[in-house]
Amino acid sequence: MIVFDSIFKSFGQNRVLDGVSITVNTGEITFIIGKSGAGKSVLVKHLVGLVRQDSGRIFFEGKDITDYQEQDFYDLRLQCAMVFQHSTLFDSMSLLENVALPIRKHRGLSRTDSLDAAREKLRLVHLEHLSDRYPAEVGDGLRKRVAIARALALSPKYLVFDEPTTGLDPVNAVRVDRLIRELKDETGVTSIVVSHDLRSIFGIADRIVMLYQGKVLKDGSPEQFRETHDPIVAQFVGGHAEGPMEL
Ligand SMILES: Nc1ncnc2c1ncn2[C@@H]1O[C@H](COP(=O)(O)OP(=O)(O)OP(=O)(O)O)[C@@H](O)[C@H]1O
Ligand SMILES: [Mg+2]
Repeated sequence: MIVFDSIFKSFGQNRVLDGVSITVNTGEITFIIGKSGAGKSVLVKHLVGLVRQDSGRIFFEGKDITDYQEQDFYDLRLQCAMVFQHSTLFDSMSLLENVALPIRKHRGLSRTDSLDAAREKLRLVHLEHLSDRYPAEVGDGLRKRVAIARALALSPKYLVFDEPTTGLDPVNAVRVDRLIRELKDETGVTSIVVSHDLRSIFGIADRIVMLYQGKVLKDGSPEQFRETHDPIVAQFVGGHAEGPMEL
C-alpha cells in the first residue's frame, strides 16, 4: 500500500498540489486522471524521489519515506518501477539485451543467466519471439511493451505508468491496456497509471482518482465515475463512460 497524506507542492507561485491525499491499494490498478497541468506527473514523481513535496507525508508499504535522501530512493526504485511516456531503449542493443541490462546491473548475474531472466520478462509482454530484433526494427507499440518488460526486469511490486498509451494507435493502445491488466493477474503487481485515455480508464481501472485544481476532486470506482452527478467529473468523462471495453 502507498499513502500520500496531504501533499502540497508548488513551483514558485504555481501551487500544483494543494493537499492531495490518496491511498493506493495493493493489487489494484489505480488511475490518476485530470486535465493537462493538473499535477498527475508531479504527484507520481514524488514516489521515486524525482520531485519532493513541500509538506505532507508519503508512506511506502508502511515506511515513512517523506524524509528520504537521494540514496535512500535507490532501493525503493527497484521495488517501484516507472514507465515514462518517452521511455527510450538503447538502439545499439537487441530488445533482449535492453531488458537484460538492469538485471545484470542489479542482480549481478552472469550474461547467460541475465539473458534467460530477460527472456522471461519478454514472455510476459508476449515478445519473446522478437528478442533478437533491435529497437529501430519495431514500431512504437512494441517498443512500449519492451519498456514495460524492462520495468518488470527486477520484479517490482509497483509499476507506475505515465501516459502509457499516448501516441499509440488504437490497436496498440488496447494491447498495452490488456497487458497492464494481465500483469496484475499474472504477477500480482500493483499499478498506478497516469492517463488521459478514457478508453484505458474505463477499460482497466479498478479505481480512479481525479485531480482538479490541486485537489482530489473524486476518488472511486469506474462505476462511481460513470454515475457521477459532479458536473466537472461528468464533463471530463462525458461521452466516454460506456461499459468495460472488450480487451
Ligand atoms: N520541474 C518543474 N518546474 C516547474 N514547474 C513544473 C515542474 N514540473 C511540473 N511543473 C508544473 O506543474 C504543473 C503540473 O505539471 P504535471 O506535469 O504534473 O501535469 P500533468 O497533469 O502531468 O499534465 P499532462 O497531462 O500534460 O502530462 C504544470 O503547471 C507544470 O508546468
Ligand atoms: Mg504528465
